[in-house]
Amino acid sequence: MAAKVERLKVNFKTLEEFKKFKEYGIQELSMFEDLEANMVDNDSESPFYGIYYGDKLVARMSLYQIDAKFDRYFYPPQNYLELWKLEVLPDYQSKGYGKLLVEFAKSFGLPIKTNPRVKSSGFWEKMNFKNVEYDMERDRGENPLVWYPEGVEAQH
Ligand code: COA
Repeated sequence: MAAKVERLKVNFKTLEEFKKFKEYGIQELSMFEDLEANMVDNDSESPFYGIYYGDKLVARMSLYQIDAKFDRYFYPPQNYLELWKLEVLPDYQSKGYGKLLVEFAKSFGLPIKTNPRVKSSGFWEKMNFKNVEYDMERDRGENPLVWYPEGVEAQH
């Protein structure tokens, strides 16, 4: 079966699938509350993208576009994508799903910033992500990694 990345809808079924992921937290809970309170429409677009195996969600990530005026990572400042919550369910790891999601994020042609989970550094190296080389104070305990499309320079 050919795997494909799709934008996930905000609905109770998606939120049920999210419970299988380790990084289930405040963001998912607030989506749930917003749905229950009818603050968002059922099936509205979410910042999440994922891969289904049959009807089971087996990998996902969240992607947010950050406006250049808030950029602290790239020079010259520009719009970039913040990638987080990349996670592949244990039984489905090492099958190329993580890579497929990262390649999908790269296809927007914008720089990408992520805060890797512990022990995933080998994966991010393979995906050509690099440590941020800025002199500003480190993010609170974070160790951000970035990827630059061609023609975009790292900030020195
Ligand atoms: N260290 C080094 N290389 C890794 C790696 C790791 N931890 N995980 C994957 N890779 C490599 C693969 O060998 C593959 O290389 P190839 O293209 O030469 O074949 C490439 O990265 C793509 O791997 P892929 O199959 O897409 O990885 P994945 O679907 O399992 O996704 C994670 C990677 C890290 C997102 C996923 O495994 C995950 O969510 N893990 C959760 C826990 C975690 O962070 N584990 C880290 C290892 S303990």
